Amino acid sequence: MQEPTLVIIKPDGLVKSLTGNILTKLSDSHLVIVAAKMKTVSRDLAEAHYGQLHDKPFFEEIVRYLMGESHTKRTMALVYYGEDAIQRVRKICGATNPEEADPATIRGAYGRITTKGVYENVIHASSNKVDAEREIKLWFEPDEILIDNLYPTKDTTKSYKTRAWV
Ligand code: PPS
Repeated sequence: MQEPTLVIIKPDGLVKSLTGNILTKLSDSHLVIVAAKMKTVSRDLAEAHYGQLHDKPFFEEIVRYLMGESHTKRTMALVYYGEDAIQRVRKICGATNPEEADPATIRGAYGRITTKGVYENVIHASSNKVDAEREIKLWFEPDEILIDNLYPTKDTTKSYKTRAWV
């Protein structure tokens, strides 16, 4: 089944200059990239992204990690699309715990566990279809994704101050 999945190269992946290596490994999936951008993560976005983990003892740590408090305030967010995209990407990423991940996977090769016990595993990938939809809608606007009607949309008028090129 054709489906989308959200991938985030986290601040440790960027500060270690691993973007190229990570994208190369992900290209083994033969999936199509339908959205990509650099993003600084606000506290609101980080808390919403990890909202289901609100009760975990490491919640505050992973929020600060995604915001780039210990590395750099940059993330790269991408939407991959294709047959079984969620499982194919997760296989290339490896186990969430970098110590348990196969060394040939992204997390196995580049991840670590901090002395506080927090996983710095350089990449996030959606775990299932419901999470993928929730996460993609948090990170991307409909017009940033090169697939029409990925999810239902409505017409809306936004009025806010923004910058334009001179
Ligand atoms: S659960 O309930 O812990 O199994 O949740 P899961 O869906 O696996 O996602 C956990 C995310 O928290 C990050 N993280 C940790 N998880 C477990 N234990 C520790 N110590 C820990 N530290 C950080 C983990 O990397 C998952 O985030 P992502 O972004 O998906 O890697």
